[in-house]
Amino acid sequence: MKDVPQQRLPRHVAIIMDGNGRWAQGRGLLRTAGHDAGARTIRTVTTECARLGLEQLTLYAFSHENWKRPKLEITFLMKLLRRFLIEERPTLADNNVRLTAIGRLDDLPATARRELDRTIELSAANTGLNLCLALSYGGRAEIVDACRALAARVAAGTLSPRDIDEETISAAMYQPGRHPDLLIRTAGEMRVSNFLLWQISYTELFVTRACWPEFGVAELHAAFHDYATRVRKYGGLVDAADPGARDAAAPRPSAPPASPAPASPLSPGSRGR
Ligand code: FPP
Repeated sequence: MKDVPQQRLPRHVAIIMDGNGRWAQGRGLLRTAGHDAGARTIRTVTTECARLGLEQLTLYAFSHENWKRPKLEITFLMKLLRRFLIEERPTLADNNVRLTAIGRLDDLPATARRELDRTIELSAANTGLNLCLALSYGGRAEIVDACRALAARVAAGTLSPRDIDEETISAAMYQPGRHPDLLIRTAGEMRVSNFLLWQISYTELFVTRACWPEFGVAELHAAFHDYATRVRKYGGLVDAADPGARDAAAPRPSAPPASPAPASPLSPGSRGR
Protein backbone atom coordinates (compact mmCIF):
# COMPACT_ATOMS: atom_id res chain seq x y z
CA MET A 1 0.00 0.00 0.00
CA LYS A 2 3.02 2.30 -0.41
CA ASP A 3 1.20 4.21 -3.18
CA VAL A 4 -1.65 5.24 -0.85
CA PRO A 5 -0.75 7.87 1.75
CA GLN A 6 -1.93 7.15 5.30
CA GLN A 7 -4.44 10.03 5.23
CA ARG A 8 -6.19 8.47 2.23
CA LEU A 9 -6.71 5.16 4.04
CA PRO A 10 -10.00 4.63 5.87
CA ARG A 11 -9.69 4.99 9.64
CA HIS A 12 -12.68 2.79 10.45
CA VAL A 13 -13.58 -0.17 8.23
CA ALA A 14 -16.69 -2.31 8.71
CA ILE A 15 -17.12 -5.66 6.96
CA ILE A 16 -20.14 -7.83 6.20
CA MET A 17 -18.38 -11.19 6.02
CA ASP A 18 -20.63 -13.17 3.66
CA GLY A 19 -20.28 -16.30 1.55
CA ASN A 20 -18.80 -18.86 3.93
CA GLY A 21 -21.51 -21.36 2.99
CA ARG A 22 -21.23 -20.76 -0.77
CA TRP A 23 -17.44 -21.03 -0.63
CA ALA A 24 -17.67 -24.41 1.13
CA GLN A 25 -20.50 -25.80 -0.97
CA GLY A 26 -18.65 -24.82 -4.16
CA ARG A 27 -15.83 -27.10 -2.99
CA GLY A 28 -18.07 -29.98 -1.96
CA LEU A 29 -17.48 -29.21 1.72
CA LEU A 30 -19.90 -28.75 4.61
CA ARG A 31 -21.01 -25.17 5.34
CA THR A 32 -19.22 -25.45 8.68
CA ALA A 33 -15.89 -25.81 6.83
CA GLY A 34 -16.66 -22.41 5.32
CA HIS A 35 -17.11 -20.90 8.78
CA ASP A 36 -13.81 -22.44 9.90
CA ALA A 37 -12.05 -20.91 6.90
CA GLY A 38 -13.87 -17.62 7.57
CA ALA A 39 -12.43 -17.49 11.08
CA ARG A 40 -8.92 -17.79 9.59
CA THR A 41 -9.67 -14.86 7.26
CA ILE A 42 -10.52 -12.73 10.30
CA ARG A 43 -6.97 -13.22 11.55
CA THR A 44 -5.43 -12.25 8.18
CA VAL A 45 -7.56 -9.13 7.80
CA THR A 46 -7.18 -8.01 11.41
CA THR A 47 -3.40 -8.36 11.27
CA GLU A 48 -3.18 -6.35 8.06
CA CYS A 49 -5.50 -3.59 9.34
CA ALA A 50 -3.37 -3.34 12.48
CA ARG A 51 -0.16 -3.21 10.41
CA LEU A 52 -1.58 -0.40 8.28
CA GLY A 53 -2.43 1.64 11.36
CA LEU A 54 -6.23 1.63 11.06
CA GLU A 55 -8.15 2.70 14.14
CA GLN A 56 -11.10 0.34 13.97
CA LEU A 57 -12.28 -2.79 12.21
CA THR A 58 -15.91 -3.75 12.88
CA LEU A 59 -16.91 -7.25 11.76
CA TYR A 60 -20.47 -8.56 11.38
CA ALA A 61 -19.75 -11.90 13.04
CA PHE A 62 -23.27 -13.00 14.04
CA SER A 63 -26.46 -11.13 13.32
CA HIS A 64 -29.61 -10.96 15.36
CA GLU A 65 -31.26 -12.73 12.41
CA ASN A 66 -28.65 -15.55 12.40
CA TRP A 67 -30.48 -17.11 15.39
CA LYS A 68 -33.03 -18.30 12.79
CA ARG A 69 -30.44 -20.70 11.31
CA PRO A 70 -30.59 -24.48 12.00
CA LYS A 71 -29.73 -25.28 15.61
CA LEU A 72 -26.70 -27.37 14.60
CA GLU A 73 -25.17 -24.50 12.63
CA ILE A 74 -25.76 -22.04 15.51
CA THR A 75 -24.12 -24.47 17.96
CA PHE A 76 -21.14 -24.83 15.62
CA LEU A 77 -20.79 -21.05 15.22
CA MET A 78 -20.94 -20.45 18.98
CA LYS A 79 -18.28 -23.12 19.63
CA LEU A 80 -16.16 -21.63 16.87
CA LEU A 81 -16.57 -18.18 18.41
CA ARG A 82 -15.48 -19.48 21.81
CA ARG A 83 -12.43 -21.22 20.32
CA PHE A 84 -11.57 -18.14 18.25
CA LEU A 85 -11.70 -15.90 21.31
CA ILE A 86 -9.24 -18.15 23.15
CA GLU A 87 -6.90 -18.94 20.26
CA GLU A 88 -6.61 -15.36 18.98
CA ARG A 89 -5.33 -13.92 22.27
CA PRO A 90 -1.64 -14.16 21.28
CA THR A 91 -2.35 -12.59 17.85
CA LEU A 92 -4.23 -9.73 19.49
CA ALA A 93 -1.36 -9.18 21.91
CA ASP A 94 1.37 -9.42 19.23
CA ASN A 95 -0.42 -6.87 17.05
CA ASN A 96 -1.45 -4.49 19.87
CA VAL A 97 -5.13 -5.09 19.03
CA ARG A 98 -7.92 -4.32 21.51
CA LEU A 99 -11.04 -6.46 21.25
CA THR A 100 -14.49 -4.97 21.81
CA ALA A 101 -18.00 -6.15 20.98
CA ILE A 102 -21.40 -4.70 20.11
CA GLY A 103 -24.83 -6.32 20.02
CA ARG A 104 -27.21 -8.01 22.42
CA LEU A 105 -24.34 -9.86 24.07
CA ASP A 106 -26.61 -11.32 26.77
CA ASP A 107 -28.10 -13.57 24.03
CA LEU A 108 -24.77 -15.45 23.69
CA PRO A 109 -24.31 -18.83 25.41
CA ALA A 110 -22.57 -18.40 28.76
CA THR A 111 -19.45 -20.28 27.61
CA ALA A 112 -18.89 -17.95 24.65
CA ARG A 113 -19.80 -14.87 26.68
CA ARG A 114 -17.25 -15.78 29.36
CA GLU A 115 -14.41 -16.03 26.84
CA LEU A 116 -15.56 -12.84 25.13
CA ASP A 117 -15.43 -10.90 28.40
CA ARG A 118 -12.04 -12.44 29.24
CA THR A 119 -10.51 -11.55 25.84
CA ILE A 120 -11.90 -8.02 26.05
CA GLU A 121 -10.34 -7.68 29.51
CA LEU A 122 -6.98 -9.19 28.46
CA SER A 123 -6.64 -6.88 25.44
CA ALA A 124 -8.05 -3.73 27.04
CA ALA A 125 -4.68 -2.04 27.45
CA ASN A 126 -3.67 -2.51 23.81
CA THR A 127 -3.44 0.84 22.05
CA GLY A 128 -3.58 -0.10 18.37
CA LEU A 129 -6.51 -1.32 16.27
CA ASN A 130 -9.93 -1.71 17.90
CA LEU A 131 -11.31 -5.02 16.60
CA CYS A 132 -15.03 -4.77 17.25
CA LEU A 133 -17.11 -7.94 16.83
CA ALA A 134 -20.81 -7.43 16.14
CA LEU A 135 -22.47 -10.38 17.88
CA SER A 136 -26.20 -11.03 18.06
CA TYR A 137 -26.21 -7.62 16.41
CA GLY A 138 -29.01 -5.90 14.52
CA GLY A 139 -28.98 -2.28 13.38
CA ARG A 140 -32.67 -1.79 14.14
CA ALA A 141 -32.30 -3.48 17.53
CA GLU A 142 -29.42 -1.10 18.30
CA ILE A 143 -31.63 1.90 17.47
CA VAL A 144 -34.43 0.44 19.63
CA ASP A 145 -31.99 -0.03 22.52
CA ALA A 146 -30.71 3.54 22.12
CA CYS A 147 -34.29 4.90 22.10
CA ARG A 148 -35.08 2.95 25.26
CA ALA A 149 -31.98 4.33 27.01
CA LEU A 150 -32.81 7.91 26.00
CA ALA A 151 -36.48 7.48 26.96
CA ALA A 152 -35.40 6.22 30.40
CA ARG A 153 -33.29 9.37 30.87
CA VAL A 154 -36.24 11.55 29.83
CA ALA A 155 -38.53 9.67 32.25
CA ALA A 156 -35.96 10.15 35.03
CA GLY A 157 -35.87 13.87 34.29
CA THR A 158 -32.16 13.91 33.39
CA LEU A 159 -32.70 14.60 29.67
CA SER A 160 -35.04 17.02 27.96
CA PRO A 161 -36.56 15.86 24.62
CA ARG A 162 -35.53 19.16 23.04
CA ASP A 163 -31.86 18.40 23.86
CA ILE A 164 -31.93 15.19 21.80
CA ASP A 165 -29.96 15.71 18.61
CA GLU A 166 -27.87 13.54 16.26
CA GLU A 167 -24.93 13.62 18.66
CA THR A 168 -27.08 12.46 21.59
CA ILE A 169 -28.34 9.53 19.52
CA SER A 170 -24.83 8.63 18.27
CA ALA A 171 -23.63 8.64 21.87
CA ALA A 172 -26.44 6.25 22.85
CA MET A 173 -25.35 3.59 20.34
CA TYR A 174 -23.64 0.41 21.59
CA GLN A 175 -20.18 1.83 20.93
CA PRO A 176 -19.98 5.57 20.38
CA GLY A 177 -17.02 6.65 18.29
CA ARG A 178 -16.00 7.28 14.71
CA HIS A 179 -18.52 6.00 12.19
CA PRO A 180 -17.17 3.65 9.47
CA ASP A 181 -15.41 5.35 6.56
CA LEU A 182 -15.68 2.23 4.42
CA LEU A 183 -18.11 -0.70 4.45
CA ILE A 184 -16.93 -3.83 2.61
CA ARG A 185 -19.32 -6.65 1.74
CA THR A 186 -18.06 -9.97 0.39
CA ALA A 187 -19.91 -12.49 -1.82
CA GLY A 188 -21.54 -9.94 -4.07
CA GLU A 189 -24.91 -9.12 -2.48
CA MET A 190 -25.87 -5.45 -2.85
CA ARG A 191 -27.52 -4.87 0.52
CA VAL A 192 -26.61 -3.70 4.02
CA SER A 193 -28.49 -6.44 5.93
CA ASN A 194 -29.34 -4.46 9.06
CA PHE A 195 -25.67 -3.63 9.80
CA LEU A 196 -24.78 -0.34 11.54
CA LEU A 197 -27.83 1.42 10.09
CA TRP A 198 -27.35 4.66 12.02
CA GLN A 199 -23.58 4.77 11.51
CA ILE A 200 -23.30 4.16 7.74
CA SER A 201 -25.25 7.22 6.53
CA TYR A 202 -22.16 8.61 4.77
CA THR A 203 -19.98 5.51 4.61
CA GLU A 204 -18.38 4.53 1.30
CA LEU A 205 -19.46 1.09 0.05
CA PHE A 206 -17.30 -1.59 -1.58
CA VAL A 207 -18.80 -4.90 -2.69
CA THR A 208 -16.63 -7.74 -3.96
CA ARG A 209 -17.68 -11.06 -5.49
CA ALA A 210 -15.01 -12.86 -3.44
CA CYS A 211 -16.47 -15.01 -0.67
CA TRP A 212 -15.19 -14.26 2.83
CA PRO A 213 -12.89 -17.33 3.11
CA GLU A 214 -11.06 -16.28 -0.07
CA PHE A 215 -10.83 -12.59 0.89
CA GLY A 216 -7.20 -11.84 1.70
CA VAL A 217 -4.63 -9.07 1.86
CA ALA A 218 -4.81 -8.47 -1.94
CA GLU A 219 -8.61 -8.03 -1.82
CA LEU A 220 -8.34 -5.74 1.23
CA HIS A 221 -5.76 -3.60 -0.58
CA ALA A 222 -8.02 -3.44 -3.66
CA ALA A 223 -10.83 -2.07 -1.46
CA PHE A 224 -8.46 0.50 0.09
CA HIS A 225 -7.15 1.59 -3.31
CA ASP A 226 -10.72 2.09 -4.47
CA TYR A 227 -11.58 4.02 -1.29
CA ALA A 228 -8.57 6.30 -1.83
CA THR A 229 -10.13 7.49 -5.10
CA ARG A 230 -13.47 8.45 -3.48
CA VAL A 231 -14.42 12.06 -2.92
CA ARG A 232 -16.55 12.31 0.22
CA LYS A 233 -19.03 15.15 0.00
CA TYR A 234 -21.41 14.52 2.91
CA GLY A 235 -24.21 16.13 0.90
CA GLY A 236 -22.20 19.28 0.30
CA LEU A 237 -20.13 20.59 -2.58
CA VAL A 238 -16.48 19.74 -2.85
CA ASP A 239 -13.97 20.61 -5.49
CA ALA A 240 -12.50 17.18 -6.26
CA ALA A 241 -9.19 18.77 -7.27
CA ASP A 242 -8.73 20.33 -3.85
CA PRO A 243 -7.81 17.83 -1.13
CA GLY A 244 -7.95 20.63 1.45
CA ALA A 245 -11.61 21.22 0.69
CA ARG A 246 -12.15 17.47 0.80
CA ASP A 247 -10.69 17.22 4.29
CA ALA A 248 -12.67 20.24 5.44
CA ALA A 249 -15.85 18.40 4.45
CA ALA A 250 -15.11 15.45 6.74
CA PRO A 251 -17.30 15.43 9.86
CA ARG A 252 -15.83 15.13 13.32
CA PRO A 253 -15.76 11.57 14.68
CA SER A 254 -19.25 10.40 15.73
CA ALA A 255 -20.87 13.68 14.71
CA PRO A 256 -22.62 13.79 11.33
CA PRO A 257 -22.21 17.21 9.69
CA ALA A 258 -24.78 19.81 10.64
CA SER A 259 -24.11 22.12 7.70
CA PRO A 260 -22.89 21.66 4.13
CA ALA A 261 -19.19 21.68 3.29
CA PRO A 262 -17.69 24.93 1.98
CA ALA A 263 -19.28 25.81 -1.33
CA SER A 264 -17.34 25.64 -4.58
CA PRO A 265 -18.52 26.75 -8.03
CA LEU A 266 -21.22 24.45 -9.32
CA SER A 267 -19.79 22.30 -12.05
CA PRO A 268 -20.94 19.04 -13.64
CA GLY A 269 -20.55 16.22 -11.16
CA SER A 270 -19.87 18.48 -8.20
CA ARG A 271 -23.24 17.89 -6.55
CA GLY A 272 -23.91 14.74 -4.63
CA ARG A 273 -25.81 13.34 -1.75
C1 FPP B 1 -21.93 -15.61 6.40
O1 FPP B 1 -21.73 -16.79 5.70
C2 FPP B 1 -21.16 -15.56 7.62
C3 FPP B 1 -21.64 -15.50 8.89
C4 FPP B 1 -22.73 -16.28 9.46
C5 FPP B 1 -20.98 -14.55 9.80
C6 FPP B 1 -19.48 -14.62 9.80
C7 FPP B 1 -18.96 -15.81 10.47
C8 FPP B 1 -17.67 -16.19 10.39
C9 FPP B 1 -16.65 -15.44 9.62
C10 FPP B 1 -17.27 -17.42 11.09
C11 FPP B 1 -16.28 -17.20 12.18
C12 FPP B 1 -16.61 -16.07 13.07
C13 FPP B 1 -16.08 -15.93 14.31
C14 FPP B 1 -16.19 -14.66 15.03
C15 FPP B 1 -15.37 -17.02 14.96
P1 FPP B 1 -23.00 -17.53 5.21
O2 FPP B 1 -23.12 -18.79 5.97
O3 FPP B 1 -24.19 -16.63 5.30
O4 FPP B 1 -22.63 -17.78 3.71
P2 FPP B 1 -23.68 -18.03 2.53
O5 FPP B 1 -24.43 -16.75 2.33
O6 FPP B 1 -22.80 -18.37 1.36
O7 FPP B 1 -24.57 -19.17 2.95
